[in-house]
Formats: sequence, structure tokens, C-alpha cells
Amino acid sequence: MGTSIRSGNIKKPNESMKLMIATFAGIFFGFFLGVSFPKLSLTKVNLPLSLFPSVDLTYIEEKYSKIETNSIWDAWASFRGDTNMFNQLHKLNEKTKIWVPTNPRGAERLPPRIVETQSDFYLRRLWGLPHQDLSIKPKYLVTFTVGYDQRDNIDAAMKKFSENFTIVLFHYDGRASEWNKFEWSKKAIHISARKQTKWWYAKRFLHPDIVAPYDYVFLWDEDLGTEHFDAEEYLEMVRKHGLQISQPGLDPSSSSFTWQMTRKRDGVEVHKMTEARIYFCMIFKILRFVEIMAPVFSKDAWRCVWHMIQNDLIHGWGLDFALRKCVESPHEKIGVVDSQWIVHKSIPSLGSQGKAEGGRSPWEGVRDRCSKEWAMFKERMANAEKDYFQRGHTPLNSTGT
Ligand SMILES: *[C@@H]1O[C@H](CO)[C@@H](O)[C@H](O)[C@H]1NC(C)=O
Ligand SMILES: *[C@@H]1O[C@H](CO)[C@@H](O)[C@H](O)[C@H]1NC(C)=O
Repeated sequence: MGTSIRSGNIKKPNESMKLMIATFAGIFFGFFLGVSFPKLSLTKVNLPLSLFPSVDLTYIEEKYSKIETNSIWDAWASFRGDTNMFNQLHKLNEKTKIWVPTNPRGAERLPPRIVETQSDFYLRRLWGLPHQDLSIKPKYLVTFTVGYDQRDNIDAAMKKFSENFTIVLFHYDGRASEWNKFEWSKKAIHISARKQTKWWYAKRFLHPDIVAPYDYVFLWDEDLGTEHFDAEEYLEMVRKHGLQISQPGLDPSSSSFTWQMTRKRDGVEVHKMTEARIYFCMIFKILRFVEIMAPVFSKDAWRCVWHMIQNDLIHGWGLDFALRKCVESPHEKIGVVDSQWIVHKSIPSLGSQGKAEGGRSPWEGVRDRCSKEWAMFKERMANAEKDYFQRGHTPLNSTGT
């Protein structure tokens, strides 16, 4: 910042005179700019100051250089070393107002250092000091979408997740409090909303900024047998093979039809999706990639996937095809971990949560909705892509989230 100007040689005297005047004007202007737009000021103020070769600027620059992200008020305060500065600043603020364009939208009136853009699911105590609340900050998040009838299965699964996991249960049957008979349940987060799907909960409660501290997010169904599964070891494999989106291999003896892709393979640690298989998958539309019953997302992949989940398409059908859009080289970053595998028990859960209509059983209505959603999702995605490419896209700007 400003170095290009400083390093330029200033030789002619009248030119440097002009520069001096301009610089003074600049400082003056810069200060006022700083007063009215605290965030804006730093480069502007720093630039003219750095033009004075004869003034010892180290002190000033030191003060200024560390406040890039702070408001100028901090700088001004330390400049003066005035203990009453806080009050004065307060008064100044009253008059001039804070406006920080680089803050999240809607929070521009706040001084940047007070802004917390992200959160977590860490439970805290009501007493003591905040920094003593947590003996461990779990780095992984596991969520199950559950009904109370599956309690024993979930209880068994919980033994496979270490203390490094935050547990979130989404209850679709409204029986959240009954789980308290399990010791682990007391430390879990329970979210209850009747008859909703995993993707509905995920969209509403797992915003990437809310689950920011977690390196991996498990979005699991309730009917999975975890006898041959250990979460820590699973993640070790995931890290070792650089998987962004993964799931455990499915035991071929699983009662439901299992696609070749997700079927557990013997004697290997993982197997990855290949381009040929994507193609295969596209041709045989009934076959789905990561049968989305036990996906595990890396933090980055989840940020993308969350944005792709549609608010109204709650069954998530079609998402599995689109997951690969969320990683740079899908054939390397999406895969199945074979050395830690699960059994899909295929217990119809949400199906029975449907509604009997026109002489048809509840699950038929649910199934119909699933395939309708699938078609709608495909169409939306196709239209969105068509739209993007037809308009002639400008290079992508990073928008923060
Ligand atoms: C939890 O995470 C820590 C740090 O990564 C690790 O040392 C420890 O072994 C983990 N706990 C279990 C039970 O694996
Ligand atoms: C994206 O960047 C280009 C060039 O950097 C700029 O002209 C354009 O206005 C930006 N678009 C948005 C939406 O910020």
C-alpha cells in the first residue's frame, strides 16, 4: 500500500513543492474523509503521509499499519493516548456515524471488530467465565433426522462418534424430549419440527455460517447400521484421500437395492467416482450417485451444497446428481470409503408420514412428490445454467459467501 509512490524518485524541486501542497491538501482531505468514513480512510491517509521523506513516519506508520481492519478511531485514540478518548469518540460517533461498507450487508453501522459473522453449536454454561465454558471444541458435526421409534439404532450409532463430534438431532415426530433417557442426548442439540425432511432441516438450521467451526458435516438418515463404522477412522480416510463429499460404503447385504457405485468394495480403503461412472449415472437415470442417505461434506463443499438446496424441494431428489458441481475435480474429491462401511436398513420412515388421499396410501403420495421434485430440480438447474451461459457471463466476482 503506497509503496509504489514512495519508491518513485522525486527530483525536481518545484515538482516536489507541488507535491507537498497537494499532499497537505490530501492529508486534510483524507482526515475528513476518515472522519466521515472511518473504514475508507486508511489507504487514503497512508498514501500522502508516506510522501514525506524528511518526517520520521515510522511511528505513524506503525500506528496506521496495524489498523487496516480497525476503524480510524482506534488509531486516533492510540495516537493521542487519551484515556478519555472513548467518551470523545462516542460523541464523535454520535455526530459522524459509523459506516463500514466492508461489513456484512446490513451491519455497516457497527465497528468491524464487534461483528461476529459466524456461529456454532457449542453449548455454554450460565455461570463462570465464557472462556472456561468449553473443555473441548468439537470439529465435526453429525446430524440425524430421527423419529423416536428408531431410538435404539441411533443410540447404537452414537457410540461410533467420539467427543469430537457435536450431535444434532432433527425430530420429525415431535418426540424430542423422550430422548433424554440417553446420556448422550443431554449434550445433543434437539430440533423438533413435525414431518419434515433431512434437507428441509439442513437448509434451515445448518447454514454454513452457523456450522462454521466444523470441518466435516454428516447429514445422516436414521436407518443406518453402524456396526462396522467408526467416525474418527472414517474421517482419517477422508482426509488421507482428499474427499470433499463422501459416504461410507454400503454393505451389499443391505436390504435395499444398492447401486454398484456406493457398494462397499473389499480390500480397498476408498473408491472414487470416475467420469465414466457419472456418464453411466446419467444414462441410467434411476441410478443415483451417493445415495443420499449418509453423505459427509467437508466445510467447503457444504457451503456450496447448502446454497444449492432449494427451499421447497424438500426431498432432495436430484441433488445427488448435482453434488459434483460443488467440487472442482469430482472424480477425485467425491468418493466412497470402503474400509468403514454401513448397512442400510431401509426402514420406511418419512413415507409413513405422508397423507392418505384418494384411496392411495400415504407413501404413494410421498413417492410422487419425490419424483416431481426431481424433475423440478433438474429443470431449475438446467435453466439456471442455460441462463448463465446465454447471457455471456462476466468473470466471477467473489461475493464473500
Ligand atoms: C479427538 O480429536 C483430537 C484432536 O484431533 C484427537 O487427538 C483425539 O484422538 C480425538 N478423539 C478420539 C476419540 O479419536
Ligand atoms: C464484477 O467485476 C467486474 C470487473 O471486475 C465489474 O465490472 C462488475 O461490476 C462486478 N460485478 C458485480 C456484480 O460486482
